Amino acid sequence: MAGIFRKNDTAGRAAGLPRHIAIIMDGNGRWATRRGLPRTAGHKAGAETFRRIATYCKNIGVQYLTVYAFSTENWKRSADEVGAIMGLLKKYLLEAVDTMEKDQIRLRFFGDMTPIAPELQALAQQTDAISDQLAPGDFQANICLNYGGRDELLRGIRRFAAECAAGEKKPEELDEGLFSSYLDSAGIPDPELIIRPSGELRLSNFLLWQCAYSEFYFTDVLWPDFDEAEMDRAIAAYQARDRRFGGVKK
Ligand code: FPP
Repeated sequence: MAGIFRKNDTAGRAAGLPRHIAIIMDGNGRWATRRGLPRTAGHKAGAETFRRIATYCKNIGVQYLTVYAFSTENWKRSADEVGAIMGLLKKYLLEAVDTMEKDQIRLRFFGDMTPIAPELQALAQQTDAISDQLAPGDFQANICLNYGGRDELLRGIRRFAAECAAGEKKPEELDEGLFSSYLDSAGIPDPELIIRPSGELRLSNFLLWQCAYSEFYFTDVLWPDFDEAEMDRAIAAYQARDRRFGGVKK
C-alpha cells in the first residue's frame, strides 16, 4: 500500500494530513479475554498503545490527538475495572509531568472532572499548567475522562444560559463559533478523522458537536493491537475521501 503523506512532504500537506484525529480506544476487554487475561490487562496494553500512537501522530505532524479514555457511562463497570483505568491514567500523568516539556507534548482533559479523585485532578492541573508554558503549535493530546458528548453540550449550554441570565450575553449572539467556545474543545479545530477500532460501528456519545463533518474509519483490529501501520491505513483512507461539506464536487 502506498505510504501516507507526512509532515515534511509538500505533496502531503496538499493532500491533507488530518490536523486533528480522534480515537475511541475500543476492544481492550476482548483483547484480554481472548488471551485468558483479566480485562484490566487489556486496559494496560491499551494505555501502551496510546503512548505509541500519540508519539507516532506527533512524529508525522498531526497536531491534535483526542482519545476516549473513560466515558460518563463507564462508571457502570466494576470498581476493580474503574480503579484500574484510573490507576493507568495516574501512572501516565506522573510520567507526563516529567517528560512533556522535553517531548513538547501538551496535554488537556475533556470531560467533567468533578467526580474524579482529587489526586488525579491535581495531576491534571499540573499537566495543564505545564501545557500552558508550551508553544501553541506543539502537539496536543486530549484525554476524554468522564466525558460524554451530551454532557459536554449540556455543560456548555448551562454556562451560556447562566451568562445570559446574568446579562453578560444575549441569546441572539449565539452562533456556531461562539457555541464552540463553551465546549471542552474550545479553540481546537474539529477532528477531520475519527477512528474506532474493534469492529463496533457507533459513536457512543463521543464528540457529538465536533463530528459534524468528520470522516470515520472503522477497523476490526482491537485497540491494543492498533499500530503505526493501522494508523497509516486510516490516514490513507481519509486522504482518499472526497470531502464536500454539503457542497458539490468541483
Ligand atoms: C474500551 O474498551 C476502553 C476503555 C473504556 C478504557 C480505555 C482506557 C485506557 C486505554 C487506559 C487509559 C490510559 C491512558 C494513558 C490514556 P472496552 O473495555 O470497552 O473493550 P471491550 O469492548 O472489548 O470490552
